[in-house]
Amino acid sequence: MARLAVNGGDKVRTKPWPRWPVWDEREIKALEEVVRSGRWGRLYEGSRVEEFEKSFSVYQDAKFGIAVTSGTAALTIALKAAGVDVGDEVIVPGYTFIATATCALQNNAVPIFVDVELDTINIDPVAIEAAITPRTRAVIPVHWNGRAADMDRILDIAKRHNLVVVEDACHGWGATWKGRKLGAIGDLGGVSFQASKHITAGEGGIVLTNDEGLAAKCFSYHHIGRIAGRPFYEHHLVGWNFRMTEFDAAVLLVQLERLEEQTQRREENAKFLSEQLSGIDGIGLLRRESYMTRISWHGFGFLYDAEAFGGVPRSKFLATLNAEGIPAGGGYSHPLYKNPLFTERRFGRIAEFVDFPDYRAVHCPNCERLCRECVSIDQRCLLGTIDDMCDIVRAMEKIRENLDEL
Ligand SMILES: Cc1ncc(COP(=O)(O)O)c(C=O)c1O
Repeated sequence: MARLAVNGGDKVRTKPWPRWPVWDEREIKALEEVVRSGRWGRLYEGSRVEEFEKSFSVYQDAKFGIAVTSGTAALTIALKAAGVDVGDEVIVPGYTFIATATCALQNNAVPIFVDVELDTINIDPVAIEAAITPRTRAVIPVHWNGRAADMDRILDIAKRHNLVVVEDACHGWGATWKGRKLGAIGDLGGVSFQASKHITAGEGGIVLTNDEGLAAKCFSYHHIGRIAGRPFYEHHLVGWNFRMTEFDAAVLLVQLERLEEQTQRREENAKFLSEQLSGIDGIGLLRRESYMTRISWHGFGFLYDAEAFGGVPRSKFLATLNAEGIPAGGGYSHPLYKNPLFTERRFGRIAEFVDFPDYRAVHCPNCERLCRECVSIDQRCLLGTIDDMCDIVRAMEKIRENLDEL
């Protein structure tokens, strides 16, 4: 008789997992207050958007925060404010979300893809240094899943080569590097509040920085070139309308109240999972460096070794795990540089004036391996109890014990 649920056996997990997003009456009340106030945009003093900017930047150890419509918008204006311009090269990891690279293209700059370290999934400082040319202007380390990148080495490289550091802290809520929150360790950083993120208003983002001048530029870029305190119809530069609404800010202020407790819970559960899974052959846990003092765990990622699982391909392992009631996925299906956007140079007429590399020739072995081997358990599972974590461990063990069924 079949034991694995994928073959008709009993599931390890039948209870529902914590739902995402987490919300209660407070979000509804906050939204109702905005509706009734009739002040739905940030275009006045004392807005909820301003309150959120202050609260989140204090929480995230940054002096300034400029709330915007998405993480993509945050990264785009961060590069713009840092002076990244036509033809400048911006070094980015190949294993990340598309916005880490398109924020450079939005500024008519050239993304240069480099490899990540296999066991931290963060940009490899050695690869950064090797990719520097006289055209390099900026580097964007991604703190993947809220695991801090190696900022000591990255900041040192940036200093020696006069590069701007824009952190992709889109997964950075509450996570720390050497005890310091992510996003304003470099020159600027971008955070996302999109629907899957650990505090969310469905969409949203923020730029963080400790530099007052850069903050003022970001404010202007996100506010169609206006300058704080100047007349409403006076515009100083080519900006965007990336303003966050009062509805988003009202929801995010409530979500922020839960973030600290949730982040601590994810850390505790992830530590327990790491201990329990470390003994299972074929589950390659990621390396936790001492500078990753707190991880936000935007998913619990590990490397799946199909050989150790009797040759069962990752797709079948995932389907089997899902059938046992454990929500998990494989992450990015291909490195960024393999997207048609890059392989077919769909950059518009800028490609006639600016030298782009032949992205078809880019090869980052670790990024490509991660696209084949990475598995990530959904972040909402980490909001469960230790008993819930035991279900994840039991499901993995059950699969290992019944490989002959696959
Ligand atoms: C690493 C990373 N960078 C940037 C972004 C872009 O954020 P948004 O979706 O809010 O534009 C995301 C969002 O998924 C992300 O995961």
